[in-house]
Order: sequence, then C-alpha cells, then structure tokens
Amino acid sequence: QSGPTGCPVSHGAAGFDPFGDGYQQDPPEYLRWAREQEPVFYSPQLGYWVVTRFDDIKAIFRDNLTFSPSIALEKITPTGDEANAVLASYGFALNRTLVNEDEPAHMPRRRALMQPFTPEALKHHEPMVRRLAREYVDRFIDDGRADLVDQMLWEVPLTVAMHFLGVPADDMDTLRRYSIAHTVNTWGRPRAEEQVAVAHAVGNFWQHAGRILDKMRADPDAEGWMQYGIRKQKELPEVVTDSYLHSMMMAGLVAAHETTANASANAIKLLLQHPKAWQEICADPSLIPNAVEECLRHNGSVAAWRRLATKDVVIGGQAIPAGSKLLIITSSANHDEQHFVDADLFDIHRDNASDHLTFGYGSHQCMGKNLARMEMQIFLEEFTRRLPHMQLAEQRFTYVPNTSFRGPEHLWVQWDVSRNPERANP
Ligand code: HEM
Repeated sequence: QSGPTGCPVSHGAAGFDPFGDGYQQDPPEYLRWAREQEPVFYSPQLGYWVVTRFDDIKAIFRDNLTFSPSIALEKITPTGDEANAVLASYGFALNRTLVNEDEPAHMPRRRALMQPFTPEALKHHEPMVRRLAREYVDRFIDDGRADLVDQMLWEVPLTVAMHFLGVPADDMDTLRRYSIAHTVNTWGRPRAEEQVAVAHAVGNFWQHAGRILDKMRADPDAEGWMQYGIRKQKELPEVVTDSYLHSMMMAGLVAAHETTANASANAIKLLLQHPKAWQEICADPSLIPNAVEECLRHNGSVAAWRRLATKDVVIGGQAIPAGSKLLIITSSANHDEQHFVDADLFDIHRDNASDHLTFGYGSHQCMGKNLARMEMQIFLEEFTRRLPHMQLAEQRFTYVPNTSFRGPEHLWVQWDVSRNPERANP
C-alpha cells in the first residue's frame, strides 16, 4: 500500500485501527510504536495523517490558519446514500459552531459568548453540582455496590450541561436519549445497517434542538448560555447567526455532557487502580485539583481531535500536502516522554500535569474546561469523603468505538457498607 505522497505505508500505519479494541482500551499504549518510530504516518484505512507527538500537536493547535478546525465535526466515516437520505429528510444541517469555525469568524463569536464561562459566572453553578452529586450518592450509598456510570456519572453531567445551556426542564428527558447518536455519527464507524438507525436518532436530535431553541427565543431572558447567545444575536447578528445557534444547541450538549461524564469515569477508575493515590486524596482533599489534571493527562476523555492542512506543510519531518486531513492523537501527546518525565507513570503530584492537551490548546481551547474541572473536583470531594473505602469491582471495561470520545461504559465499584463513615458519624 502507498500513501498520498506515493511513499509505501509501513506495517504499523497499515494496521492502525482506531475503532478496534487496542485503541479503545489504551490509545497512548496502542500508539507507542508511532511516538517512537514513525510519529506522523498516513492511515490508509482512515484517509487521515495521524500525528502522535506532543510538540507537533501543540504546534498544530497553535496555528489555526494553516491547520483549520473546519473538519472537527465532520463524519469520520462517510455514510451511505440511505443514511444521507434519512438525515436530509429531517432537514439535518449541523454546521459551524465554535469548535469547527475558521477565522476571522471564530474569534469575535468566541469573545461574544465567553462571559458565562468566567470563574464568577461558573460559581453560580457550584451549589447545584454539589447538590446533585450528594443526591445521587444518597441513592446507592447503602447498597455496597454501584455502577457509577449508570447510576451517577452519566446523568449528573448531563443535567448540569442542560442547566448550563438553559434547556427548559420539560425537555430534559427527551434530550437524554439522543446525545450518544451524535458521537457515533461523528466520530464512530457504524456498520451499514446501523447507519440508518443512527441517522434517525441524529435527525430527531436535530429537530428537537430546533424546537428547544424556538422555546428559548420566546423567553430570552431566562438563564442559560443559549439564551445568552440569543440576546447577543440582537446586538451582533452577523456574529451569532441562526445556523450557529441551532448547531450549537445540538453539539453543545455533547460538548458539555459526554466529555465530562467520560472524564469523571476515567478519573475515578484510574484513581481506584492506584490505591496509594486514592488514599492520599482521601486524607488530603487539597490534592484533588492537581489529581484531576493528572487524570485528564493520563487518561483523558477526548483521545484525539482533527484539523485540515490548508497548505503544503512539514510536520515532524514528514511532508504533508495541502488538503490533508489530520487526526491528532492528544492522548498520545499526553504520554510523550519528551514532555512528561516518566510519562506513563500516574503521579498526582506531577508539576506539569496541566500541560496536557486534552482540552486542546490555543484559540479554540475548550471554553468549558473550568466547568468540567469543577464537576470532577466536586465528584471526587464527595466520593473521597463519603466512600473512601470504595474499590473497583472485577470487570472488563468496554468503550463505544470511536476515535475521540472515550470513557468506560460501566464502572462497577463496591464497598463494605458497615464501614461507611457516615454510619459512625451520622
Ligand atoms: C472545545 C475537550 C468539557 C464547551 C473543546 C476542544 C476539546 C474539548 C478537545 C477543542 C479544542 C481545540 O480545538 O483546541 C473537552 C473535555 C471536556 C470538555 C475533555 C471535559 C473534561 C466542556 C464543557 C463545555 C465545553 C463542560 C461546556 C459547554 C466547549 C466549547 C468549545 C470546546 C464551547 C469550543 C471552543 C472554541 O472553538 O473556541 N473541548 N471539553 N467543553 N469545548 Fe470542551
């Protein structure tokens, strides 16, 4: 096999399969060979150039003119005619939001919509996150066993995301059903027969997002990031467009929900796999913020992101022609020995843990990063205080096959209820 430059494709590059179990279980380990031997390679299976080292990926994030984010929400697996017809029948037209918007449109929009993400604005959500975390733990604390994903970590970030966006309470239940379909549609490889079902779910999600937006427009003074956008549209109609609002109503839910739900599950799994680190944060909760960064570095919930080369470039010594699509494996960059000493070691005291690229970098860096951090910190504060004796149950972890959004589908933990601290100290 040869790549687009005519060079033969190596054995490793030909075998690269981001939908297979090897990548799903441990992306940085799966790509160790590439970081060491062939840091930039062409994947014939994907039709993407794959970039694996920290410095190369950071440089790509830094230059969003040469490396356009416009393909960030494109379907990585092109769908067949039948699925396309289904999507069209729903009027599906997901377009530019923020994450896939080019300059010069992107920065003015990002600036216009930033205020709800400032630390002062986010403080307002903290009591709700804590209340939800407590309520959910109350439901299972006397059971001695729980699937933390099914029983808490999927739902709480979803509820927080809907509150943050401003979704009316009576629409919350319907929205719960749709989000995963967008992930599979965008970053997954559904089989031909699944594509049609996914397309129906995505089409319904799109239409529902439109109806919610109409409701929001009727009550634009209500709280929420979307209502903030609707108010800004009156002032800056060219910057905050209708297409943006509809697309963001759908994509924003996934951006705020699945990323954080998965990150929380990854973090708790990782900490329980390292009992010494878990005991340290139980004894001293002031270690939690850096532990969260180290979890995001070591086992982040966004494993890879995408860019489009707008001109001929050289990345890590490899010539890449204009028009090439790049899959930049941030989870691999986060295990690059050139940047992180003893990179595979999980060390909650690591002083450069927050250099990780899980939130991206540069002008598109995640706007919601502090909301996500707050949620993760609160979950850990609650678990370390109320269930410090919690342990991982025996299980095999499974993941929804896709290139980018990564977290275990279930996370079974167990504990001895008679040792619950609040039984001794009610
Ligand atoms: C952008 C990851 C949580 C909203 C991004 C990007 C990544 C990312 C990789 C693209 C960065 C780039 O291109 O440089 C994550 C992770 C999260 C998380 C790992 C949780 C652990 C959230 C939350 C929100 C959010 C809670 C809340 C709404 C956004 C927005 C952008 C973005 C609006 C687009 C920013 C822009 O293009 O200017 N995120 N995210 N994210 N994220 Fe997050």
